[in-house]
Amino acid sequence: MNDDEQAAGKRLSGARLWHKDAVIYQLHVKSFYDADGDGVGDFCGLTGKLDYIASLGVNTIWLLPFYPSPRRDDGYDISDYRDVSPEYGSIADFQAFVDAAHARQIRVIIELVVNHTSDEHPWFQRARRAPVGSPERDYYVWSDTDDKFSETRIIFVDTEKSNWSWDPVAQAYYWHRFYSHQPDLNYRNPDVVNELLVTMNFWLAKGVDGFRLDAIPHLVEREHTDNENLPETHALLKHVRANLEAKHPEVILLAEANLWQEEAREYFGDGDECHMAFHFPLMPRMFMALAKQSAKPIKTILRQTSSIPDDCQWAIFLRNHDELTLEMVTESERNFLWETYAADKRARLNLGIRRRLSPLMDQDRRRIELLHMLLFSLPGSPVLYYGDEIGMGDNIDLGDRDGVRTPMQWSDHQNAGFSTASPHKLALPIISDPQFSYAAINVADQQGDPHSLLNWMKQMLRLRRRHEAVSRGSLRFVKTDNECVLSYLRAFGDDIVLCAANLSETPQAVRLALPGLEGYVPVELCGGASFPAVGRENYPLTFQPYAYFWFAMRR
Ligand code: GLC
Repeated sequence: MNDDEQAAGKRLSGARLWHKDAVIYQLHVKSFYDADGDGVGDFCGLTGKLDYIASLGVNTIWLLPFYPSPRRDDGYDISDYRDVSPEYGSIADFQAFVDAAHARQIRVIIELVVNHTSDEHPWFQRARRAPVGSPERDYYVWSDTDDKFSETRIIFVDTEKSNWSWDPVAQAYYWHRFYSHQPDLNYRNPDVVNELLVTMNFWLAKGVDGFRLDAIPHLVEREHTDNENLPETHALLKHVRANLEAKHPEVILLAEANLWQEEAREYFGDGDECHMAFHFPLMPRMFMALAKQSAKPIKTILRQTSSIPDDCQWAIFLRNHDELTLEMVTESERNFLWETYAADKRARLNLGIRRRLSPLMDQDRRRIELLHMLLFSLPGSPVLYYGDEIGMGDNIDLGDRDGVRTPMQWSDHQNAGFSTASPHKLALPIISDPQFSYAAINVADQQGDPHSLLNWMKQMLRLRRRHEAVSRGSLRFVKTDNECVLSYLRAFGDDIVLCAANLSETPQAVRLALPGLEGYVPVELCGGASFPAVGRENYPLTFQPYAYFWFAMRR
C-alpha cells in the first residue's frame, strides 16, 4: 500500500457529502481533559472522553491548534506545522485519538493556519537572515518602508497599530495581518505553496477528515488593493482543492472568511474551492433578533444569501473560541449589540464581545434553548462550542480571549474533574464565580438530571438526525402576521419540518400561511403529539415567551 492508500484506509468510508450532515463539536485539547496530571489537557485525555462526545450526538470534532507554538495567540502562532505540541502529547497520541474517533464514526477537522506562522518558526528565523531576493527570504513579505499596502485595514485594533513591523535582524519591515509576532507567509513564492501541500499530506496520512482554513481571505497581497479576497487567493485555493480532490475527495476544506455573505460565498468557488464556509453575518443577527424580538434580522440576511453549489454547505455557529465578532453588522447595530450584551466594557474586545453564550443570555434557559433550536434547524451544519452544552460561564478578568477557553467542567471535584494537578498549574483557571462555578455547572450532575440542558441538547440532536430536511433540505420562510415569530419550512423530498419560534419575552399568538400544506398534520417532534391538521385558513399557534416548535409535517 502506498501512503495515500494507507491514509484512505484510516479514514471513515462511505457517506459522500458527509459535511452536509455534520454536527461539529469544537474544542481545545488544552482545556478538555488532562490525563497525565500536569494541568494541561492532552490527546490521551481527549481520547478518554470520546464516549462523552459521541453521546452528545455530534459526528465531527474540530480541534483548535495543537501544534508546537509559543502560544502567544493560543496556538494560532505555529512554530512547527508537522508535529504535536509536547504538552498535548505525541504524534502517536494524535493518531490514537483519530483512530478512536473513527471507531465511533466521528470525523476530525484540524486547523490549518495558512496565513501566518509564529516569528519563532524556523522559516522566519531563516528568512530574516537570508539574502534579500533569496527564496528563503521570500517565505515572508518584506518591505523597506511601512507605508506599502496602505489601503489594508487592521484586524486586531486593540493591540496593533500597523500591519508592518520592523525586524532588526532583516533590517526590513515584515507584513502581518494579526499580531506582530505572526508574520504572514508569502504565497507568491511557489516554495511556500509547496510547504502547505506537504503539511496537508502529512496530516492526511494520519487520516484527518478536514481542514479549517484559518484567516483565509488574507493569503495573497497586491499593491493598491485592500489585500482581502484577491483573485490570486482564490486561484491558490483552487490549486489546493485540486490537489486534495485528486487523492482525497472525501476530505473537506472549511473556510474561515469573516466576510459578508456574498464575499464568503466566493470561497465555495464553482464547487472547486472550499466545501464549507462559516456564515459570519448570520451569527450576530440571531442575537439581534432576540434583542429586538423580531424575526426580521434573520430573514433579511438569509434572503440576501444566494444559493451555494450543490456539494457545499454553510457552517453556522453561535459562539466559538474568539470574541463574538461584530464585524459583519453596521456601526449602529454594533453599538446596539454592545449595549445589549456587553454593557460591562471589559467584555468588549476588538470589534466584538468576549463572552460565552450562557452569560450572554443571563443564564436564561429559555433563550439558550431558543438560540440552539435555531442553530440546529437553520440551513447549514451547526458548530457547538465545548462547554456550551452545559451552559458554562466565562471569566472576563483573563486576558485576550482566554476567558472563553477555560477547562471543561466535568464534575464538582477538585479542578472541576479536569485535572489532578495542583490548581495553580492549570492551563487556565477553572471558573469559580458562584453562579457559573463547577460546583453548580458540570457534566456529571447534568448527566444525572433528565431535565438538564445537556440532556435537552442530546434530545434535540437526536431529533435533528432523524430529519434530513434539517441538514440538507431547502428553506422557505413562512408568512406570519406577527413579527415576533420566526417560522420556516425545511424540506427534503417527502421530509418536511416546520419550525416556529417566539423571539419575544412575552406570550404571543400567530397565524402561519402554509399554502400547499392543507391536510397535513403537524407532529410536534419533542413529545410526539399531533396538532390539528392544517386547514384552508392560516394556521394558528400560541407561544409562551421564547417558546419554539419543531413539527414533522405528516400527510
Ligand atoms: C483566526 C482565529 C483566531 C486567531 C486569528 C489569527 O481568526 O480564529 O483565534 O487569533 O485567526 O490566527
